[in-house]
Order: sequence, then C-alpha cells, then structure tokens
Amino acid sequence: MVAKPFRTAIIGLGAVAEPHIAAYCDLADVEVAAVVDPRQDRVEEICARYGVAGFSSCEALLAAMTPDIACVLTPAATHREITVQCAAAGVHVLCEKPMAVEVSDAEAMAAACDEAGVRFFYGSSYRYLPAVQAARGLIRAGAIGAVRTITERVVTGAGEAAYRPMSPAHYPVGGPGGWGYGLVDHGIHMLDVFPWLCDSPIDRLMGQGDRAGAAARPEYAVFALRSGAMGFLNYDGCTRPVELPGEGVFSDSRQWIAGRGWMGEVGAWDARPGHIDIHGGEGALRVFHYANKLFLNTSGVPREVPVSGRPAPWHFGRQLEDFCDALEQDRAPAVSSDDGLQALRALHAIYASEASGGWRWISAHP
Ligand SMILES: NC(=O)c1ccc[n+]([C@@H]2O[C@H](COP(=O)([O-])OP(=O)(O)OC[C@H]3O[C@@H](n4cnc5c(N)ncnc54)[C@H](O)[C@@H]3O)[C@@H](O)[C@H]2O)c1
Repeated sequence: MVAKPFRTAIIGLGAVAEPHIAAYCDLADVEVAAVVDPRQDRVEEICARYGVAGFSSCEALLAAMTPDIACVLTPAATHREITVQCAAAGVHVLCEKPMAVEVSDAEAMAAACDEAGVRFFYGSSYRYLPAVQAARGLIRAGAIGAVRTITERVVTGAGEAAYRPMSPAHYPVGGPGGWGYGLVDHGIHMLDVFPWLCDSPIDRLMGQGDRAGAAARPEYAVFALRSGAMGFLNYDGCTRPVELPGEGVFSDSRQWIAGRGWMGEVGAWDARPGHIDIHGGEGALRVFHYANKLFLNTSGVPREVPVSGRPAPWHFGRQLEDFCDALEQDRAPAVSSDDGLQALRALHAIYASEASGGWRWISAHP
C-alpha cells in the first residue's frame, strides 16, 4: 500500500507535461517530486517554475530516489523502456496514450508491471473529461435508448502543403503514424472511449491508417461493438474545414491543438470544437469533449445539459487522483493495461484489415 502524499515523478517535459503538472499541483495528496527530460534547458525551466528536483534520464532519477508514481509523458516509442525501468525499481506507472506503438511492447510493459508487483494506469484521459463522463451517465440511465452509432470526425487543416506529421521520435518510420489528430495519435482515445461509453467491447474493425514516413491519406475506421452499435472514425489533416461560422460554441475550456499544445481562452468562441455524436434508438447526444458542453435531443429539439466539474486540463488531475485512490486502497486501477492493450489491438486490427481487405475480429467470440 502507498501512503499519502504520493511522490510523483514526471518523465518527459514536452507539450502535454505542463497541463499535467499544473493539474497535479492542485491535488492535496500528490507531491510532484521530480521531473526528467534529456533537454537540460527544459528541465531547468520546469524546476525553477515548480521547485522540484530535475534529472536528465530515468536512470539518474531512479539512482537518486524511488518515487511512488512515475507519469510517463514521453513519445509512445519510448514508453516500453521507461515503464520497464520504473517497474523494476518498484515504481507504479501512469502512462500516456498510446500505451506503445507495437502490441508486443505493450504486452511487455504489462508483464513487467505484473512481475514487479506494481500497478499500471493507462492514461485514457478522455474518460476524465466532464462532458464525456456526463454523456456516459445519460447513456447508462437510458436517456437515448440503446446506442446505434457513435462517430468522431476531424477533417480539417490548411491544405496538403501545411500538413505536419508527428516526428519519428513519436512514431518510427514504417509503423503506424500520422498527425496529432490522426487515427493513431488521437483515434486511439476513441478506440477506448467509444466502447467505454457504450459499456460494450469492440468485436471487429476495418479501415485505413497512415504510416510514419508515407504520404498522408484520409484515414477511417468502422467498427462493431458487441452491443450492435457501430463506431465511425474519420481523420484528415490535409484539407480545409467547411464548418460554417454559426456551428461553433463558446468554449468552457482551453483546447488541445495538434502540434501546438493548449491554446485559447475559457469563454472564447470556438468555431470548430471537437465533438463526438452518439445516436440511440430514443435520442442523440453531441459531446463537445474539450469545450465541455453536452447537448441532448430526445424531443426533436436539442437542449443543453449542464456539465459539472472543472474542464480540461484538470481532467489530468482527476485521472491521477483516481490512480492514487486505487493505490491507497490496494486495488486495480480503473483504467488498466488491459484497456491500453485493447485499444492498441483495435488500432492494429485496422491496419491488418487494410492488408487483408476485410473485417478483423479482436474479440474472443467471432
Ligand atoms: N492525453 C492527451 O490528451 C495527450 C495530449 C498530447 C500528448 N499526449 C501523449 O503524451 C505523450 C507526450 O506527448 P507530447 O505532445 O508532450 O510530446 P513532445 O514531443 O512535446 O514531448 C516529449 C518529451 O519527452 C522527452 N523525452 C523523450 N525521450 C525521453 C526519455 N527517454 N526520458 C525522458 N524524457 C524523454 C522529450 O525530450 C520531450 O521533451 C505521448 O504519448 C502523447 O501521445 C497525450
């Protein structure tokens, strides 16, 4: 059992680290004890801002101290090595998505944590966004009947010439890759959140996804949940948006902009807020996950449903708090390596479907 406060180390100080750290600093039971990054100037900047110890590598951190939790916020290609090191040192791991690039790496991470007797929390942070949680509550309460389709579409950009894929440090050339709101880097959220929202696992998938180093194509995935609901994903960062000015919302949160980090202001007009559409037999929901707004239509006219809870980036704090509760109570975390592995298997099944030209089953009951 781990005692409060939970001494937490942040591994990787890139774009997503600051919102994590800011949210953690608000948690009474968490002490951000150390940060790690090979970029010395960045370590110095963060150490000065938050008054924490800094290290240039995971080895140096673990030689100097044994934190209770390591938050792995580095590119996916590095998650395996860092997780295995932390587990071997007896440190519990919260790891950002995707769990790894290859399924074999994610399996090795899960095995290393099991063998070392440490807990692994998969950072499926969308599960902690208040609007997404409120939508799940409504679905579970039967507000829209049985879910029939669930959809996310991010088709946007500033033309092909402006397209910027994620670097090979994140996604090595030849493997799954693409841009920051593409199938791999962003769709992986939905491959976990859609089945979680519907309380039903994915049975089979088909689609096409980009590879790092290859030309970007329109990406899509179609999948069937065991409940009968169908999931649809569509991503393309090589074109331009067609949303009209009146289609946005006043955002209750800042936004994650691919390649730029957290941008914008709370209360500002967001002309193209990211959203998930969920259609059931008796109604429909539109979930503005970052803008923190939720609309329900059961009568023919959509109405806004109030959402309680602090919006992004405080969801990173709630996520870590949930992990701390699990550690304190010595129970399995709410989002585990099984969830991270299942999302990654679903992602790879999409690539395999393109190669084979048909559905790929990932459930044990084809
Ligand atoms: N949950 C979300 O909403 C969300 C949003 C953005 C990114 N992410 C995830 O967070 C992770 C990091 O993304 P990012 O956008 O911050 O990346 P980034 O490229 O901005 O930063 C990565 C950082 O990790 C450091 N790093 C690389 N190898 C390291 C190592 N071995 N040890 C310590 N530090 C190392 C780099 O120097 C860099 O500072 C990725 O897994 C990404 O998918 C999640």
